[in-house]
Amino acid sequence: MRAAQRIVVEGVEGLQHGQARTFVFEDGGYEGRGFVMMLREPDGETLVAYRNRCAHVSFDLDMGTGEFFSAKLGRIYCRTHGAAYEPHSGVCDRGPCVGKALEKLEVERQGRDAVVSIPALGQAGALGQAGASGPAAEAGGPSGEAGGA
Ligand code: FES
Repeated sequence: MRAAQRIVVEGVEGLQHGQARTFVFEDGGYEGRGFVMMLREPDGETLVAYRNRCAHVSFDLDMGTGEFFSAKLGRIYCRTHGAAYEPHSGVCDRGPCVGKALEKLEVERQGRDAVVSIPALGQAGALGQAGASGPAAEAGGPSGEAGGA
C-alpha cells in the first residue's frame, strides 16, 4: 500500500522552457518515476508534474534521458512510439494514444524548489496501479509556477 507522499524536487528555478527534473517515489513496494517540467510562456511560468509513464504502453517517456519535451512540436513526447502530449493538460493529441492522458500530479513552487504531492493508493485521483520499481526519493528539477531567470 502506498501512503501519500510529498517529494521535494530541488532547483527548478533555473529551468528553461520544456526542461524537466525527474524524481522517484515509493509506489506500493515499487519505484514510481515522475518529472517536473517548467513551461515558460509569454503569459508567465507554470510548473507541471507527471508520472513518467506513457499512456500508450507503460514505458518511461524519456527512456532514461531526462528529456521529455520537443520544442519542434511544443509537446511532451514519448521516445518509444512518438506519442505527443499537450504540456499543460497532459492529453495526447498525436500518436498512438490520442485522447488518453499522462497521469498528472499536483506540484507547487516552494522557493527555488518544487514540491510534488503523490496521492495514497486508493485515494481519489490516485495514480495508476503497479509501477516500475523502487523506493521514494527526491530529485532536482523544475517546479511550481512563476519563476525567474
Ligand atoms: S510507449 Fe509511448 S508511444 Fe508507445
